[in-house]
Amino acid sequence: MAHKKIALIGGGQIGGVLAQLIAMKQLGDVVLYDIVEDLPQGKTLDIAEAARVDGFDVKVTGTNNYKDIAGSDLVIVTAGLPRKPGMSRDDLLSTNAKIMKVVAENVREYAPNSIVMIISNPLDAMVTLFKKVSGFPANRVLGQAGVLDSSRFSTFIAWELGVSVKDVNAMVLGGHGDTMVPLIRYANVNGIPVMEMLERKYKDKAKAKEVIMAMVERTKMAGGEVVKLLKTGSAFYSPASSATAMAESILLDEKRLLPACALLNGEFGVTGYYAGVPAVLGANGIERVVELSLDADEQAAFDNSINAVKKLVEDMERLGF
Ligand code: NAD
Ligand code: LAC
Repeated sequence: MAHKKIALIGGGQIGGVLAQLIAMKQLGDVVLYDIVEDLPQGKTLDIAEAARVDGFDVKVTGTNNYKDIAGSDLVIVTAGLPRKPGMSRDDLLSTNAKIMKVVAENVREYAPNSIVMIISNPLDAMVTLFKKVSGFPANRVLGQAGVLDSSRFSTFIAWELGVSVKDVNAMVLGGHGDTMVPLIRYANVNGIPVMEMLERKYKDKAKAKEVIMAMVERTKMAGGEVVKLLKTGSAFYSPASSATAMAESILLDEKRLLPACALLNGEFGVTGYYAGVPAVLGANGIERVVELSLDADEQAAFDNSINAVKKLVEDMERLGF
């Protein structure tokens, strides 16, 4: 069977780790594109030279020419700049929107049948813009954020409860920003509600609530926590792992139910906006959005997050995109 082809647009921190993870999992041949001359060629040569040791047998190549992404089944976009000191939110939005517009035009031209996963920030706006410029159907344009935010939340829960993170299930919905919505009520350890475990641990409901709220806050600020430590950039190992899990579900048609940034068409009471929701990911990309009941507080938090996404999209439109 012919290998699948995965194009990575952006060969920076996340793009490089993504190339390595995808190769090691043998999900398909990888083409890494960047505007910086020689960078993607250098990174992919380095990764390819580990093939004998790691035991993978897929092609990993670098390019500065969009023509080389032709025939890609999946395109993952990390192109864009991180926020620099002195840069306003609008500056970043405008800079990355300019980049995303060019990316979308080229993907539309050279890989018109691909499924596209956006990672670049501000995530919800960048996915919206890619969809608008490419004109691709909604099932073929999605964003990665929720898998990462959920993995962070699960990690903090596992540390707090002293259990393996493999048994923790927790989802974060909404936009990829301070208003994201970690779902406390649905979080569980192999089916046991996290709140029940916390209440048993502390024998005090108020204390259990305080502990979970601290984990919720840490999850919301987790990206910033890493930036503060790294000083020169943002998280890249965990975002690359998260995107790889989504890529695997799409390329192997696994139909995993994962939080993904998807275009809503009435689900959760929202129409015409992208936001993080549970979705089934398979060979057709976003195969369906899965709804779940939210109580009044959860719905209010979700609505608040949608309002933040709307404001972001309005700001982007005001800047001419
Ligand atoms: P990075 O700066 O290391 O890499 C970005 C790459 O994009 C660079 O190599 C740069 O040369 C390239 N680039 C710039 N303009 C380009 C263009 N016009 N065409 C193609 N490539 C271009 O950044 P990173 O750490 O890899 O992060 C990438 C993006 O992902 C950032 O926007 C970051 O904020 C975002 N991010 C998202 C999440 C998420 O969960 N969605 C998590 C972490 C980071
Ligand atoms: C993060 C940001 C950078 O969540 O998107 O790490």
